[in-house]
Amino acid sequence: MSDPRHSVLLNTGSRMPLLGLGTGQLRGLENLMPAVDAALAAGYHQFDTAAVYRNEVELGQALRELLPKHGLERADIFITSKLAPRDQGPMAPAACQRSLDQLGLEYIDLFLVHEPGTEGLRVEDPQNSVNRAQSWTALEEFLSRGKFRAIGVSNYIVRHLEELFASCKVPPAVLQVEFHPRLAQTELRALCAQRSVCFEAYSPLGTGALLSDPVVLEVAKGCGRTAAQVLLRWAVQQGIPVIPKSSNPSRVRENAQLFDFELSQEDMDRLTGLDCGQRFDPEDPSLVA
Ligand SMILES: NC(=O)c1ccc[n+]([C@@H]2O[C@H](COP(=O)([O-])OP(=O)(O)OC[C@H]3O[C@@H](n4cnc5c(N)ncnc54)[C@H](OP(=O)(O)O)[C@@H]3O)[C@@H](O)[C@H]2O)c1
Repeated sequence: MSDPRHSVLLNTGSRMPLLGLGTGQLRGLENLMPAVDAALAAGYHQFDTAAVYRNEVELGQALRELLPKHGLERADIFITSKLAPRDQGPMAPAACQRSLDQLGLEYIDLFLVHEPGTEGLRVEDPQNSVNRAQSWTALEEFLSRGKFRAIGVSNYIVRHLEELFASCKVPPAVLQVEFHPRLAQTELRALCAQRSVCFEAYSPLGTGALLSDPVVLEVAKGCGRTAAQVLLRWAVQQGIPVIPKSSNPSRVRENAQLFDFELSQEDMDRLTGLDCGQRFDPEDPSLVA
């Protein structure tokens, strides 16, 4: 499917592309079509959506229309979606099927539990833990039926992951969390490496905030690249898949030019040195029981 040099091997034995298009806040066919078209032309093979983004229907439609134009088939691309926090627990099986139906797909390459918590429950409620275990069983069932090709979690902290490892039949293939030079996620990365879970970065540009960071700009100037390319390269050079979001076709193209240059060890270290634990996602998953 995707170039092995531009993808990572999952613990399922299949490969996941290192570069994907994030589609959070990309709603409506009029916004999705140009972004997806530019992404397919620029060589993106992964698309990241979620039930809560309310764009599964349009993303499915855009891909059905655009894949033939780019000489691609369904099997050439990798689609990720996620279980909404409102659907945790008993509603999970119906929600898994709904994502398949909305995307109009026979299978989804990667399906994630979006968050450890359940919408409507207080964060400290122990039912959060019961619900996410029940959700995981639903994901395992869709995996066993071939409806999901890989399953994983998002926004879990070490405690949530340890709980999952202790109770699951199938371990997660992927952990998707916020990751960029200001948020090193050292503990989670070490646990993922130890347990053969692929660590994937969302908000790899720090939601755009890191694009004006003076150190990022200096590194970018030094190697004749843009700030976005340097931030994305820093992650993929460590083998970490990234899913930058852009609604702008020229920025979608810019963000794909990552595989024709390398950052020096000095530049990698300068970017890594920016870690200060800064999180842009307003939700704090560490509070969820
Ligand atoms: N699992 C989760 O809970 C979770 C949470 C957050 C995000 N995500 C996923 O991760 C994806 C990306 O995260 P994100 O959207 O939060 O942040 P991001 O990708 O770090 O940053 C996106 C922002 O940067 C801008 N941008 C993108 N490329 C640019 C470039 N080359 N030059 C200048 N500006 C650029 C975009 O604006 P324009 O659109 O105007 O270009 C947008 O405002 C989401 O779309 C979603 O798929 C998952």
